[in-house]
Amino acid sequence: MVCIRRAQPADLLKIQNCNLMCLPENYNLKYYYYHILSWPQLLHVAEMDGKIVGYVLAKMEDENPDSPVHGHITSISVLRPYRKLGIATKLMEAAHKEMVEVYDAEYVSLHVRVGNRAAFSLYSSTLGYLIHDTEAKYYADGEDAYDMRKVFVKPKPAVVEEAKEEVKKEVKQDTVEQKKRRNKKKKNK
Ligand SMILES: CC(C)(COP(=O)(O)OP(=O)(O)OC[C@H]1O[C@@H](n2cnc3c(N)ncnc32)[C@H](O)[C@@H]1OP(=O)(O)O)[C@@H](O)C(=O)NCCC(=O)NCCS
Repeated sequence: MVCIRRAQPADLLKIQNCNLMCLPENYNLKYYYYHILSWPQLLHVAEMDGKIVGYVLAKMEDENPDSPVHGHITSISVLRPYRKLGIATKLMEAAHKEMVEVYDAEYVSLHVRVGNRAAFSLYSSTLGYLIHDTEAKYYADGEDAYDMRKVFVKPKPAVVEEAKEEVKKEVKQDTVEQKKRRNKKKKNK
């Protein structure tokens, strides 16, 4: 059984190793430490029989006060023998959940090679990302990237307010009923 959990500093070398085996975009260890120290909720690993078989590395983009708070998927990969088991889907969902719950993110963005059919299908068909833009020659080897985004659907404030009003009414109703019962008891004494 696969276990999806937040990464610990002790996992970082294994995450870096997984990245080196799966992708041409690699990072030095400092970059992983920077992520885990800045956004500890946004680095997840997939563990199977004590082995790290996949990871998702994500961050928040909140430095521009004019743009809505949003998350960004920096990197994701799953070791070849463990692919097509739903592991990447679970890792992405874990990152999305933390972005919403911890950081109140409005949306999440990422870049993907236009030729990466597996990843593109994961993002678009399985997770509901849409193409926002295409960036020419984004990658070091000259390949273009899709800039993809997924807007998080949150309950509308009006719905939350309505629910609060409903609870208030119920509490008030209870108090009235209690008062009636107390008065009845008094009369019977
Ligand atoms: C892309 C990657 C992370 C997917 O990981 P995974 O654990 O196999 O993905 P999942 O099992 O969760 O698959 C979810 C969906 O992704 C798509 N998908 C996954 N592998 C696919 C493949 N080989 N071909 C086409 N679609 C694929 C499918 O839509 C799949 O849904 P389905 O199983 O209902 O058909 C993995 O192939 C990988 O590590 N690739 C190398 C690194 C990489 O490209 N990372 C992304 C950089 S942007």
